[in-house]
Amino acid sequence: MGKIQNREIHLKTYPEGTPQESDFATVDAPLPEPQAGELLVRNQYFSLDPYMRARMTGQETYVPPYTLDAPLDGPCVGYVEMSRSEHIKEGEYVAGGKGWREAFVTSPEQVERIQPAEGVPLQAFLGILGTTGFTAYTGLFHIGQLTGEETVFVSAGAGAVGSAACQIARLKGCRVAASTSSDEKARWLREDAGVNAAINYNNEQRLVDALNRECPEGVDLYFDNVGGRTLEAAIQNMNTYGRLVLCGMISQYNARRPPRAPANLMLAIVKRLRMQGFIVHDHMDLHPQFSAEMNSWISQNQITWQETVVEGIEQAPAAFIRLFTGEKTGKMLVRIAS
Ligand SMILES: NC(=O)c1ccc[n+]([C@@H]2O[C@H](COP(=O)([O-])OP(=O)(O)OC[C@H]3O[C@@H](n4cnc5c(N)ncnc54)[C@H](OP(=O)(O)O)[C@@H]3O)[C@@H](O)[C@H]2O)c1
Repeated sequence: MGKIQNREIHLKTYPEGTPQESDFATVDAPLPEPQAGELLVRNQYFSLDPYMRARMTGQETYVPPYTLDAPLDGPCVGYVEMSRSEHIKEGEYVAGGKGWREAFVTSPEQVERIQPAEGVPLQAFLGILGTTGFTAYTGLFHIGQLTGEETVFVSAGAGAVGSAACQIARLKGCRVAASTSSDEKARWLREDAGVNAAINYNNEQRLVDALNRECPEGVDLYFDNVGGRTLEAAIQNMNTYGRLVLCGMISQYNARRPPRAPANLMLAIVKRLRMQGFIVHDHMDLHPQFSAEMNSWISQNQITWQETVVEGIEQAPAAFIRLFTGEKTGKMLVRIAS
């Protein structure tokens, strides 16, 4: 029996459709003292990400499914509360993959030391400086071959990845249109993230027409976070030789049946479109380049971001569900009070 206090979130059942809070449980799970060579890390923040829904199906995808009645995991940042390793000292900050829990015991090889620059909050390593920002960067440049001075459309543009993609494309001189679910998010996109056009899809009869209205010159690059009807609207508005970066399809993650859209895929032939999906972790060779460029944009105040922070591990299931209702702004995070 361990002595170090810790609570963690378990998955009790694989959700059918939209996850419910009753699919999760908050469990007391005291930890053993770290052995020689090990660390005790106290999480300060962990990240809630849409891809986790795919791990809640019990089926193998590019990552293994979560195991029932065991702690969930995912990106986290915290500090070393106890060290029995010569490699990382007590008090140092680290990033790791043991989210959804308050603390964990690990070997130093399983975590990465992080040092936030002045003015940069620790949790930025889960968002704009972490996988979120890296996904936007990799998708635009490596997969999308963004060249600048093009028209770019980003769906879920006010989200964590989407808002980074919008701003990076603007920094490269592109004209950017983004879709989102509310007037307030659309305002933020225009006034703070600097996009040229923000479409609140809830105000539109047909997204395909709204996109045509906002991008009369056509779309050269579509960064897809949503799939389904949004992807269909983008295909309809693509220019010849346009590129579609398939980053995510959140409109389908809770679907019980395969969607009927896009019904216009034949246009991919007519318009000679190139579509490519990607998984960001396949592209770690680009990370140093990303890190240097993103740190430079941040230090020059050229990029901004939003976050929604809930306090306390027991709030994590409800906060996770909000990813699929859009009732949050920017990066969804859980903070653990130290
Ligand atoms: N390929 C990769 O390696 C990779 C890596 C990271 C993330 N991703 C993908 O990138 C996408 C964005 O991830 P994120 O972490 O930045 O999440 P996020 O955009 O911060 O949060 C999800 C957002 O999706 C929108 N949304 C939810 N359900 C929707 C629906 N049914 N129809 C339309 N929009 C819906 C909502 O935004 P609005 O309120 O604005 O509609 C919501 O806020 C996800 O699809 C994720 O799976 C892929």
